Amino acid sequence: MSETATAVHAGKYTRNNPFLSEVTVNELLTAPGSEKETRHLELTLEEGMEYLPGDAVGILPTNRAQAVYEVLTALGFTGDERVLDHYKVEISLEEAVRTRLQIGKLARGAVTQMAKLAPGNVGLQAMFGPDNKARAEEYCYGRELIDLVHDFPGVITDPQQLFQVVARLTPRMYSIASSQMAHPGVVQTTVRVVRYDSHGRERQGLASGHIGERAPLGEKIPVFLHANGNFRLPEDTTLPVIMIGPGTGIAPFRAFLEERQAKGETGKNWLFFGEQRRSLDFLYQEQLEGMHKSGFLTHLDTAFSRDQARKIYVQDRMQERAAQIYAWLEEGAYFYVCGDATRMAKDVELALLDAIAKGSQGTLDHAAEYLDGMKKQKRYQRDVY
Ligand SMILES: Cc1cc2nc3c(=O)[nH]c(=O)nc-3n(C[C@H](O)[C@H](O)[C@H](O)COP(=O)(O)OP(=O)(O)OC[C@H]3O[C@@H](n4cnc5c(N)ncnc54)[C@H](O)[C@@H]3O)c2cc1C
Ligand SMILES: NC(=O)c1ccc[n+]([C@@H]2O[C@H](COP(=O)([O-])OP(=O)(O)OC[C@H]3O[C@@H](n4cnc5c(N)ncnc54)[C@H](OP(=O)(O)O)[C@@H]3O)[C@@H](O)[C@H]2O)c1
Repeated sequence: MSETATAVHAGKYTRNNPFLSEVTVNELLTAPGSEKETRHLELTLEEGMEYLPGDAVGILPTNRAQAVYEVLTALGFTGDERVLDHYKVEISLEEAVRTRLQIGKLARGAVTQMAKLAPGNVGLQAMFGPDNKARAEEYCYGRELIDLVHDFPGVITDPQQLFQVVARLTPRMYSIASSQMAHPGVVQTTVRVVRYDSHGRERQGLASGHIGERAPLGEKIPVFLHANGNFRLPEDTTLPVIMIGPGTGIAPFRAFLEERQAKGETGKNWLFFGEQRRSLDFLYQEQLEGMHKSGFLTHLDTAFSRDQARKIYVQDRMQERAAQIYAWLEEGAYFYVCGDATRMAKDVELALLDAIAKGSQGTLDHAAEYLDGMKKQKRYQRDVY
């Protein structure tokens, strides 16, 4: 991979010194009635901030006002108290809870630190130390700081103790969904808003909730660009690419396709996209079908899991097309996967191995060797989360 292919000039901005970017588009991609709320977001960039398809954008969210208020009230603080942040800068407690502390999903570390503050508290001690790790993790699942404070009142007595108990609020990464060549001056992403109910409360993801609820047009959000040299289009622009991107996994492939189109690259393109329902969840449908119709996107294979009684996933479509996938690999195709790490990426790898074994009329061991060879040539790349 040459320097130019991987180099990105994120400008002077980093996670600790983010760029205050303006929201110029924030629209729903899923239709009313969908079980998902997946959004297309566009954010301005300053001149000199550059990215390549395959990179991510980091977003620094803030906690929602209602959640901040609930935590302060439960602790008996007003928010006007003064505290020192992680850099020992004095700020109000309200600002600290809103912008510096992870008051959302609870980490085991918070339970451990609370237990240290209350050595006599039986409930907290029962979740303390390596022997009680499983119990602490079970407690944390689906809970937030507010639950911990309600369940163990009176433990935090000094506002500064919150910095000991609660982890630092960290940025969230989102795969970039645009080519900068096609959209100068902005970065685009595809965000699924996390919402769920647990332990009698409505919850939302910190960053995706921020984007879903508190990022209207004109709003400023701190962001930074994050290079990913391990997820790149082939340098040889004539080579074919096969992209597996169900759900928000579509994001980097929209960027890949836009880039190849903008540059007039001649390599063939094959996209496998999957979601729950064609009529509600076909992200970027018009654009992708347009690319397919024009012939630029050689193949567009879709798997809508809930449009029929039996679930159909992208790997089922891969199985149907195994012979042609192998033929493309033999032509030197690059194979990319983006999206769910826990289940989809593993199942897709099995389907790929199967396609290689069948195509080469070899064993699965031989297919594994073939895939190893592809990895060494950087022809098998994954961006999964
Ligand atoms: C390299 C990379 C690229 C990514 N690209 C994208 C992308 O393009 N689009 C995208 O949408 N996301 C993407 N993500 C994921 C994204 O970074 C965030 O993790 C995601 O948006 C959730 O963050 P949040 O702050 O909204 O939620 P958080 O506040 O972090 O909360 C999420 C947590 O809530 C808990 N939770 C969720 N649902 C439930 C439930 N039903 N019951 C109990 N607990 C639950 C889980 O612990 C989960 O980890 C990417 C991640 C990485 C690392
Ligand atoms: N950390 C977080 O809180 C967070 C937030 C947002 C997204 N994510 C992750 O981002 C990824 C994408 O989420 P998303 O909602 O856009 O899409 P998704 O959950 O990956 O769903 C997209 C499609 O993939 C299907 N699918 C389910 N299991 C599969 C499997 N084993 N193999 C292949 N396809 C499978 C789904 O079908 P069915 O649903 O019908 O089974 C759906 O049709 C997931 O990893 C998700 O967990 C994480």
